[in-house]
Amino acid sequence: MGSHATVAGDPPVYDFDVVRKFAIMTVVWGIFGMGMGVFIASELVWPGLNDLLQPYTHFGRLRPLHTNAVIFAFGGCALFATSYYVVQRTCQTKLFGGWLVPFTFWGWQAVIVLAAITLPQGMTQAKEYAELEWPIDILLALVWISYAIVFFGTIVKRRTSHIYVANWFYGGFIVTVAVLHIVNSASVPVSMFKSYSAYAGAADAMVQWWYGHNAVGFFLTAGFLGMMYYFVPKQAGRPVYSYQLSIVHFWALISLYIWAGSHHLHYSALPDWTQSLGMVMSLILLAPSWGGMINGIMTLSGAWHKLRTDPTLRFLVVALSFYGMSTFEGPMMAIKTVNALSHNTDWTVGHVHSGALGWVAMISIGALYHMLPILYKRTEMYSVKWVNVHFWLATIGTVLYVCAMWVNGIMQGLMWRAFNKDGTLTYTFIESVTASHAGYLVRVIGGAFFLAGMLLMAYNTYRTAKTAGAPAAIPAQAQAV
Ligand code: HEM
Ligand code: HEM
Repeated sequence: MGSHATVAGDPPVYDFDVVRKFAIMTVVWGIFGMGMGVFIASELVWPGLNDLLQPYTHFGRLRPLHTNAVIFAFGGCALFATSYYVVQRTCQTKLFGGWLVPFTFWGWQAVIVLAAITLPQGMTQAKEYAELEWPIDILLALVWISYAIVFFGTIVKRRTSHIYVANWFYGGFIVTVAVLHIVNSASVPVSMFKSYSAYAGAADAMVQWWYGHNAVGFFLTAGFLGMMYYFVPKQAGRPVYSYQLSIVHFWALISLYIWAGSHHLHYSALPDWTQSLGMVMSLILLAPSWGGMINGIMTLSGAWHKLRTDPTLRFLVVALSFYGMSTFEGPMMAIKTVNALSHNTDWTVGHVHSGALGWVAMISIGALYHMLPILYKRTEMYSVKWVNVHFWLATIGTVLYVCAMWVNGIMQGLMWRAFNKDGTLTYTFIESVTASHAGYLVRVIGGAFFLAGMLLMAYNTYRTAKTAGAPAAIPAQAQAV
């Protein structure tokens, strides 16, 4: 991947043990988090499910468990696995940090297990995506700082002159998430399991959505773009379409994202100019987002034919398409008049999952299918056919989910704002709930498709690991940096 690949001296020995562990846990937490997603989606179709084991199985208790499990457990493990893999290969050196490396693995798993225990019990700071109570927040901060030491330490001791662009994105994501987490989680503890935010009123809301939006921009986007910049060129066997564009992409993205959070608080108590600033910054954000998407897709020029036979590449390319779609939709939803229709409806949930399933999950799955055979010293996954079946299950599942939510969302928005001539509401709220029922059922089916694909992946991964080393040869393309 460019001139930095040539290094003098012995070939490096990489620390792949931790990469393997994080890769396996990505699949395990993926199944858990998406299983939770299918369960809460089912609760919205068959409300009786809420009563299975009250209050622990209530939608309100399990929804944050779903979001934490998919974002931080599934997405987080994918980010750890791929960043540790990419930084070693592109820096041609083993991970820095000694015992800190296993600490990041076990510490992260501990945070997730604690989340799974405390959230169903209702222990929460009630801040979306930052629900965990203060002792867990402190552990999370320690793990994250260790992650930063390992990652940047490895970059410092690199044996290459150049820092490959994927590492810029991973680095930006690690630094920003540390700042976001520490600032937004500042709170006053009143007991071991209860604390109150250090901020109040509109300021609290602003800090929370500065965090929330940048959790999207840095956790769910910048880190996964790091993944994209390594695995798309690798799997396509082509250099990045434009290296210059990738640098512009990086600086434009990180300098714009940080301003857009107030689009989550349109028509709220926030000063009006702050809302408009968030809207304008979100609109400008379309440019770097699409620049990055085009850079990824154009990397395939000359290699499009590979899509016919390579399901892993299909995962990566379809992920980029969904990335383009959700980063077009997001700026549109940030326009205040559009948001007046979309806010609080299922349209937002559809937007979230076109990003979450279509982009985040698909790019992670593609990256894992690239890495797993190499980690287990095989030429390819145990079954490439199953990878293909997984691809179709995931794609159909995402499309069903997202389309159902678009239909529901726009319908709800229109029903809620329909007035009769005399100024009374045309529809009661419950009428909009009843009308949404069919869409919720389609979402359960779409989610079940996606989950079925993950189960197939787990079995394929198990068989791949079981037959490690057979056949022994690793393809030459995968061995080059
Ligand atoms: C099998 C796949 C999945 C299913 C069935 C599913 C289902 C759901 C459901 C039912 C909700 C609650 C919506 C509501 O409150 O009305 C939700 C919320 C959410 N899910 Fe998923 N989900 C899945 C996968 C994922 C993945 C992979 C991610 C992230 C990587 C994700 C991220 C989120 C987020 C961020 C929210 C909160 C959305 C908001 O507040 O607007 N989900 N999901
Ligand atoms: C240029 C890029 C993007 C912009 C400008 C943007 C903008 C928006 C807007 C305006 C909302 C609705 C806020 C509301 O009415 O409450 C929203 C919600 C959301 N978006 Fe995006 N979006 C972008 C890309 C993405 C991507 C790629 C993902 C996921 C990977 C994502 C995940 C989310 C989530 C999780 C929410 C729901 C937050 C919540 O209410 O809990 N967004 N986004």
